Amino acid sequence: MDPGKRLTGTLAIAVFTAALGSLQYGYSIGVINAPQKVIEKHYGRTLGLWTERSSVAGGNATEEDEAERHPTVVMYWSLSVAIFSIGGMVSSFLVGFVGDLKGRVKGMLMVNVLAVAAGLLMGLCRMWKPHIMVISGRAVMGFYCGLTSGLVPMYIGEIAPKAYRGALGALHQLAIVIGILISQVIGLDFVLGNDDMWPLLLGLSGAPAILQSILLPLCPESPRYLYILLGKEQEAQKTLHRLRGPYDTTSDLEEMRREKEEADREPRVFILSLIRSTVYRQQLFVALMMHLSQQLSGINAIFYYSTAIFAQAGVSQPVYATIGVGVINTVFTMVSVALVDKAGRRTLTLVGLAGMCCCTVVMTAGLSLQDQFSWMSYVSMTAIFLFVSFFEIGPGPIPWFIVAELFSQGPRPAAIALAGCCNWTSNFIIGITFPYIQAWLGCYVFIVFAVLLLGFTIFTYLRVPETKGKTFKEIAAGFQKGRKGKVSQTSTDVKELQQLKTSTDA
Ligand code: GLC
Repeated sequence: MDPGKRLTGTLAIAVFTAALGSLQYGYSIGVINAPQKVIEKHYGRTLGLWTERSSVAGGNATEEDEAERHPTVVMYWSLSVAIFSIGGMVSSFLVGFVGDLKGRVKGMLMVNVLAVAAGLLMGLCRMWKPHIMVISGRAVMGFYCGLTSGLVPMYIGEIAPKAYRGALGALHQLAIVIGILISQVIGLDFVLGNDDMWPLLLGLSGAPAILQSILLPLCPESPRYLYILLGKEQEAQKTLHRLRGPYDTTSDLEEMRREKEEADREPRVFILSLIRSTVYRQQLFVALMMHLSQQLSGINAIFYYSTAIFAQAGVSQPVYATIGVGVINTVFTMVSVALVDKAGRRTLTLVGLAGMCCCTVVMTAGLSLQDQFSWMSYVSMTAIFLFVSFFEIGPGPIPWFIVAELFSQGPRPAAIALAGCCNWTSNFIIGITFPYIQAWLGCYVFIVFAVLLLGFTIFTYLRVPETKGKTFKEIAAGFQKGRKGKVSQTSTDVKELQQLKTSTDA
């Protein structure tokens, strides 16, 4: 194996440690589904909407159900679910600030305080008003996950050798899906998803942060951060050796030196200047569209409402089918990890989006015809499994790490922050609107996603470049070439191009 491309123990520990943050994110996405009924009942009880009288009478089911469905309980429950995304939407803007403040490693370490606090709030929720404690805990956890969903891909993207940047970057998504699967399994009623144990189930979402805090001091800081932001060339070199073993660091340091010169020449790129800049417009457009395609594909409609969708498709044990989705999800993310540096990001995204588009059409046919032909329920179920598989092949993992590849050091943190915010906002919108769209369109609901997916497939075909095996500089140069090739360019465009050219040619 080429020197400098070695997968050393330090690199493995660093990636594993960072990915514990992603595991926590996945766990928090999945944990809230299975115990919904149990928690709603508890809310109803503590709000005085379910009386002791019914409990003494052996738990009058009707009265209990009424308490669960009481508008106040529904309101507190919806808030417990949705506040997580709101926390993420807000904090994703701060990713650049936190990552640059004391470095990526210390940034991840600092924000772990939030995860532990959130875990404690939820785990100890019986000590005070559980609904308030859970809602506060979910808000803090969402805030933490918004930060971690940017910091982890940023750190991994910066420490990974070029040849494995895709596979190591996709580990962020692999850890997310493993987190979802763990929460689905331990959320079963005979494990922790029951009346006694549910606070522990929610509280455990803070546990990986403790392990991560122990391991982070063993992880080297990102060499790009050390060199480009702090100007510490020697330390960056030492870190490269720690991460990749003994090898000739000249070309890596040379690449960083150029990026540093560029970054020093340009004014610091903050979120607003990134939005306004025409120089980065194409990269930004591609980055945001990839995050939009991930969320507007409808994947979370499946994850949040799979049990109900499976019940509609005629499955008798929908909870187990949901766990089946979690398993398929994990297996196909592993396939993506294995393929992404060989097949490339563009190909896998295209195959994934086109495949998902076909599955939504088949799913719709299955759901609409199942009253006439009972075997159609198997068709819809297979289509759901395939939909998830295609998602994890490309549109799931790739957007998370491609943003770090599309931008050079200067605008990278701001770009990751914007893309993260776009992801969290669209996730939130799908989460709250899906039940209404479903009520409106019934079994034709997935046609909406079919149309969106077709649009995203065409967009990817026309605009998304291949970044596999390229240096950050080569990727940026590809976008410049695209701009140069355009027939109609405004004079401002040409001027900005000229500026960019002088800075990169130097
Ligand atoms: C991606 C998405 C997340 C989704 C998950 C499903 O990480 O960002 O919203 O729940 O994939 O595997």
